[in-house]
Amino acid sequence: MTAAADARCIPRALVTGSNDGIGAAVAHALVGEGYEVVRHARNRVRADDYLSDAPEGTQIAVGDFASLAETHDVARQAAALGPFDVVVHNAGTGAPPARELTADGIERTLQVNAVAPYLLTALMPPPERIVYVGSDSIRNTLLDLDDIQSGADWDQGAAYGRSKIALTALGLYVARHWPSRLVNVVHPGWVRSKMSGEAAPLSLEEGADTIVWLALARDPEALVSGELFFERAPARFNDQPHDPGIQEAVVAAFEQLTGVVLPKDPRPQPQR
Ligand SMILES: NC(=O)c1ccc[n+]([C@@H]2O[C@H](COP(=O)([O-])OP(=O)(O)OC[C@H]3O[C@@H](n4cnc5c(N)ncnc54)[C@H](OP(=O)(O)O)[C@@H]3O)[C@@H](O)[C@H]2O)c1
Repeated sequence: MTAAADARCIPRALVTGSNDGIGAAVAHALVGEGYEVVRHARNRVRADDYLSDAPEGTQIAVGDFASLAETHDVARQAAALGPFDVVVHNAGTGAPPARELTADGIERTLQVNAVAPYLLTALMPPPERIVYVGSDSIRNTLLDLDDIQSGADWDQGAAYGRSKIALTALGLYVARHWPSRLVNVVHPGWVRSKMSGEAAPLSLEEGADTIVWLALARDPEALVSGELFFERAPARFNDQPHDPGIQEAVVAAFEQLTGVVLPKDPRPQPQR
């Protein structure tokens, strides 16, 4: 059991985007393993919809990751409900049909899928384990570091993949810079959710499997950091996010976009 969990006896997790889809399955599985899980939903309507069927006392943070102000607010709500042993950055969106900027002036897909997880990582007290939910769609494109928001050549398919390259680079950066923590990225597979539809071969529970395993397992294979995983094994779909130079550039861009600097390595937590 972790230091944070020792103090409270019950380990605690935050799962973003857990009102639906893979995130809901991750949250459900963690509860089954004895975790207290704080959920997150995009807005009050989605949260209330989820809570209407949830056990009494279920805690949920609310905020849209397409807004920097709302993401700051999610970090505040979550910090008040923590500390967490595990944070799963699962919330994500497909790209809209045409390039959109949010009210913050940031390309929407990048902001929801990568800038918001950056901001939450930087603003919240660091958990012992972090899992970022990436995608194998990174194999189909490259991120242009001189044009990280795809101003010159945006297209719907590439925008999602590029946002996940940025997210993967973020996860691998955090792993390198926070060696006291276990930080990994997971491709969940092609999963039947409202994002991928009914044709996808995997159930939500199958999509959640590697995420949950990295969140809590004590198997030596799960007690690693700085890997992109698929089906409980390290994977590599695109060399770009594994390049430390790319990781540094992505995080520097996120610092600039948000005005928030990622803290240095948090206090070491020797118990694993
Ligand atoms: N399904 C797949 O085949 C697949 C494959 C590779 C990677 N992934 C990744 O897996 C993760 C979960 O996806 P899923 O398949 O479970 O999709 P999903 O059912 O659409 O769930 C996505 C979750 O993210 C939330 N979300 C979307 N936009 C948001 C925003 N602007 N602010 C805050 N929350 C937001 C959604 O909230 P709402 O319910 O309110 O929309 C929902 O809770 C995503 O990161 C996705 O990219 C999925």
